[in-house]
Amino acid sequence: CGIVGYVGSQSALDVVMAGLKRLEYRGYDSAGVAVLADGGLAAAKRAGKLVNLEKELVDRPLPSGSTGIGHTRWATHGGPTDANAHPHLDNAGRVAVVHNGIIENFALLRAELAERGHDLASETDTEVVSHLLAEEFSSCADLAEAMRLVCRRLEGAFTLVAVHADEPDVVVGARRNSPLVVGVGEGEAFLASDVAAFIAHTRSALELGQDQVVELRRDGVTVTGFDGSAAEVRSYHVDWDASAAEKGGYDYFMLKEIAEQPKAVADTLLGRIDVSGDLTLDEVRISASELREVDKVVIVACGTAFHAGLIAKYAIEHWTRIPCEVELASEFRYRDPILDARSLVIAISQSGETMDTLMALRHAREQGSKVLAICNTNGSTIPRESDAVLYTHAGPEVAVASTKAFLTQLVACYLVALYLGQVRGTKWGDEIRAVIRDLAEISGEVERVLETMEPVRALARSLADKNTVLFLGRHVGYPVALEGALKLKELAYMHAEGFAAGELKHGPIALIEDDLPVVVVVPSPRGRSVLHDKIVSNIQEIRARGARTIVIAEEGDEAVVPYADHLIRIPVTPTLLQPLVATVPLQVFACELATARGNEVDQPRNLAKSVTVE
Ligand code: G6P
Repeated sequence: CGIVGYVGSQSALDVVMAGLKRLEYRGYDSAGVAVLADGGLAAAKRAGKLVNLEKELVDRPLPSGSTGIGHTRWATHGGPTDANAHPHLDNAGRVAVVHNGIIENFALLRAELAERGHDLASETDTEVVSHLLAEEFSSCADLAEAMRLVCRRLEGAFTLVAVHADEPDVVVGARRNSPLVVGVGEGEAFLASDVAAFIAHTRSALELGQDQVVELRRDGVTVTGFDGSAAEVRSYHVDWDASAAEKGGYDYFMLKEIAEQPKAVADTLLGRIDVSGDLTLDEVRISASELREVDKVVIVACGTAFHAGLIAKYAIEHWTRIPCEVELASEFRYRDPILDARSLVIAISQSGETMDTLMALRHAREQGSKVLAICNTNGSTIPRESDAVLYTHAGPEVAVASTKAFLTQLVACYLVALYLGQVRGTKWGDEIRAVIRDLAEISGEVERVLETMEPVRALARSLADKNTVLFLGRHVGYPVALEGALKLKELAYMHAEGFAAGELKHGPIALIEDDLPVVVVVPSPRGRSVLHDKIVSNIQEIRARGARTIVIAEEGDEAVVPYADHLIRIPVTPTLLQPLVATVPLQVFACELATARGNEVDQPRNLAKSVTVE
């Protein structure tokens, strides 16, 4: 969910609505706002996207005030209805609360409130908080104190932001695990799930820690622990370009973000390759001697970031000979993984807030392992709780389906793999130096792929009425196939599956029927050419059974030509780097199919970009 709070001298409604627009990628099942005005509290909320709320505010304007909160929701408890939308008010309509996360003991608290005569209108866990806050405020008349008292009774992970009509110049926030950042302006202050909500107003931000309550007033911000003790906070400067969070002439953020990939890749490499062609990753604050001790690498991540991890495994094991496991973060801690001080855990996350990944990294640290985060969001929780971080420099990624963040995650993974190889010394020293040189050139190759995408778009449009698309790959092409299938599920709502091409004969080949589109990612005919020959056979096998083959192959690879119903060319790259160019056509393909099927590209149904619940 996305949360915004504001106190200052501007119209709170304007600031909050503009902030919610920036955060809509975090959830868009429903939205709502509350402002303090004329000694009272006024609220509006609507199911569906933010535009529904905007219409509601035109039909029934709220009075103007300079303190307010807002919310855009990704439903957990209770369906996406008007009643379940945030904010939630108490019975007297004096307190309004917005919330992200899950309050696990809400059923118990709800029963207690009902016994004390409270009348709860929604099915949400959040409403419980507004009633509890109202009760506590009635005895202490201090919203921050009331929040602290309530938070001590809550279980689960949550961010809460509240206002009370009796304290008209105060916004209070609380944080346990879920994200919340503070923006400090001149005579105004902001609270938000993400700095994108306020960078148009201020670049000065404060990180909140776990179990902290923040009180915002025009002239200052006070942070305490849930127990009332004074808390230390770290301030930082936000250097993201505000215009980077605009569509800049593109129809969708996703199109813009696909187009930004060459720059994102180049930015992520910037300053990390020195003049002599070696890697300098000073920010990886894990010493060379510690890295030499590592005897196992474990990568944890979710969704698209997990696919980056799967590709990283090939690179890490090849260049360093250290065994590498890759695991879905949501599964990791529940299987009692074998970890110790010599395990290096790499947590990959664009947002830095994904709860599954955060919990996995905490588990790893509890076992004494070092955690390196690969993350795109400065100041977010995952890098803060890790031993070291390698930031990707993709800039803000707004479209829910990840594109440029994925490519930069790959770059960061290659850097880590090469760096480990460099630090530990490996028989692949010459190859490592050659690959570093190739990496330095790779953004130009990504650019070239983007210039040749028109036939891919035309092909996608011609497949708009299909129900299923399969994706095949071998070696690093296998995770690329998984990512291609994920993009299609997310965006086109089509049944899409990725398979290791060699596994086809063990089952999935039964799915092949006449004219079924099958995308095949073909490894380079150079280098590991045995893989290439095998996949050419796989293409013939499926074609013989009626599949319509869509073949992604290197320039100059003539062996595939007779079996390709559609041929998509990608530049020649070292085998391990091929995902950087092979993924791009799959992103374009999914985006165009979504458009052709009339789907929302940037905000696919049921999804959210940053999932802060487990
Ligand atoms: C959500 C998004 C996915 C994303 C995943 C991991 O499920 O919809 O697109 O890949 O989270 O996000 P992260 O921010 O941790 O990379």
